Amino acid sequence: MAVTGVLRPGHFQMRVLDLQQSVDFYTKVMGLIETGRDGQGRVYFKTQDERDHNSFIIREAEEAGVDFVGFKVQDKATLAKLDADLRAYGLHTEHIAAGEMLETGERIRFTLPTGHDIELYAEKTDVGNGMPYVNPEVFVPDGKGINPVRFDHCLLYGPDIEKAQKIFEDVLGFYLVEHVLMEDGKTDLAIWLSCSNKAHDIAFVRHPEPGKLHHVAFFLESWEGVLKAADIMSMNRVSIDIGPTRHGITRGTTIYAFDPSGNRFETFCGGYQTYPDNQPITWTFDNVGAGIFYHDRKLNERFLTVVS
Ligand SMILES: [Fe+2]
Repeated sequence: MAVTGVLRPGHFQMRVLDLQQSVDFYTKVMGLIETGRDGQGRVYFKTQDERDHNSFIIREAEEAGVDFVGFKVQDKATLAKLDADLRAYGLHTEHIAAGEMLETGERIRFTLPTGHDIELYAEKTDVGNGMPYVNPEVFVPDGKGINPVRFDHCLLYGPDIEKAQKIFEDVLGFYLVEHVLMEDGKTDLAIWLSCSNKAHDIAFVRHPEPGKLHHVAFFLESWEGVLKAADIMSMNRVSIDIGPTRHGITRGTTIYAFDPSGNRFETFCGGYQTYPDNQPITWTFDNVGAGIFYHDRKLNERFLTVVS
């Protein structure tokens, strides 16, 4: 499969309540590597195995939540084309100069009807994963904490998710992988969208308040890694929301927990591979419990309602 156009979720900027407490959490418990700080007070991280300079950025603020999600695109020509396509679609795009984020090229930002800021960019400095590009080993042996493979996706809460879906499908080349219907059997309560052959690269849940974050997700290599992540969370007295368990939707194995600011994060493994010609999978409202938590087959109220 040739992944072209929008390649993948590339960076995620999040607000935290106490910067140093969060740096400690994301380096020691999550096992991310701090790669830089900028004049705005932002702290940049990558996972050990990621090659680009940064994938996860935090800044201190009065309220937790998401600032923006960035997708890496194929090249600068693709960035220019998608900018023109977004404007032709009727969206306002903002150009953010190269270097405004550390080691990151020009970004094109637009706001979704759900209230979330999405960015596209083509360039971020390749700093490597600590191994050579010629004859590498299979992992760098000094991984710490949960040590995820990559920043993988996020689930966002907001209104008008069908309008966001159309932008991702009609302009950015994403496709619907799974969706959950509301009680009326017609309207989508939630959608999972892919720009690759991952089961999801971004997901949305219908919610009256715009711009909210349900979770940011980090990918682990194995089910054993998910279990070990739960052990590390317990060791560090991290507030676990639910898990380890498995989703019916995407089939991923997962744990949800809260960072020190109350931002929910997911450490997960698996999820099937999909292709744009696959028919989307539909979950009816009466089966949403099994869709979200396949073993319990029911939702907990906190999982549905707590967002940042
Ligand atoms: Fe997720």
